[in-house]
Amino acid sequence: MPMPHLLSPFTAWVRRQSSLPRNKRILDALDRSDAPAVKAIGQAVRQRLTDAQWTAEEEARIRAVENYRARLLASTETFEVVDYGAHGPDADRNRNEMETGIRVGRSVAALAKGAASPPFWGQCMFSLVRALRPGLCLELGTSLGISASYQSAALKLNGKGRLISIEGDPSIARIATAGLKEQGYTETEVRCGRFMDVLPTLLRECGPLDFIFIDGHHDHEATKEYFDMLLPHMAPNAVVIFDDIRWSPGMFKAWEELCSDPRTGYVIDLGRWGLACIGAKKVGPAMPEKFELG
Ligand SMILES: C[S@@+](CC[C@H](N)C(=O)[O-])C[C@H]1O[C@@H](n2cnc3c(N)ncnc32)[C@H](O)[C@@H]1O
Repeated sequence: MPMPHLLSPFTAWVRRQSSLPRNKRILDALDRSDAPAVKAIGQAVRQRLTDAQWTAEEEARIRAVENYRARLLASTETFEVVDYGAHGPDADRNRNEMETGIRVGRSVAALAKGAASPPFWGQCMFSLVRALRPGLCLELGTSLGISASYQSAALKLNGKGRLISIEGDPSIARIATAGLKEQGYTETEVRCGRFMDVLPTLLRECGPLDFIFIDGHHDHEATKEYFDMLLPHMAPNAVVIFDDIRWSPGMFKAWEELCSDPRTGYVIDLGRWGLACIGAKKVGPAMPEKFELG
């Protein structure tokens, strides 16, 4: 079966519609929670499932992100990048290779096609940040800055909050910084370096983290280590998104273990993403019910 995020937009839409009754039951459970973050996530997911209308200013910001994506997809630029992390679900990199990275040739267009959050998920991110109204957001894995653009757009419209995003490769980080600046998001900061090198200083100097998107170094051990490292710096009601929890058996194992970890609070499985609402009471079975989000 294809990964949910590889479905065509139309097929994904049809699947979302046909699964609405089942999703509704889970949404009702989120609505009943007394944790504001869980309720806010329920609202944001409901909006995306029902393809709710954007306001004119939201639509303009979303269009600007998608125009930026279109420019990246049309680019003919190629460069050499350091490819950090697990590389692919079937790649068998050892820890040293994941952390040191491997130099590879890439095109901007291929990165925009293969690494960036697809429109549906970018817009889920936008709705979540609009609903949660976080103060400080952290992203592990900027790539060309598509998900960072969606978060920055939502923060701008919220009138509060800022984002720091970390990218290992300097050429990729440069393009992301330029893309964010072009859209007017000069307050979003892209820090270049390996997560493990950048995080200690960043975490010492920044305030409590309200919203975290972990979208790089998709490896079982690494994912759990980043969570452990970030946890002491999270705000009491922080929300953490783990991207690509079904990308590889290792990623799914990490998600299952995180679900049964009391420190992750209320956990929500959106298919592609796993969400942890820190500080909200864990309910039901350790493994949450899975949404059909397409
Ligand atoms: C899947 S892409 C991020 C996509 C982006 N969040 C989006 O949706 O538009 C993951 C990025 O994380 C970076 N990365 C992976 N492992 C890293 C590490 N250990 N340190 C720093 N960057 C890393 C890669 O260079 C890559 O650009």
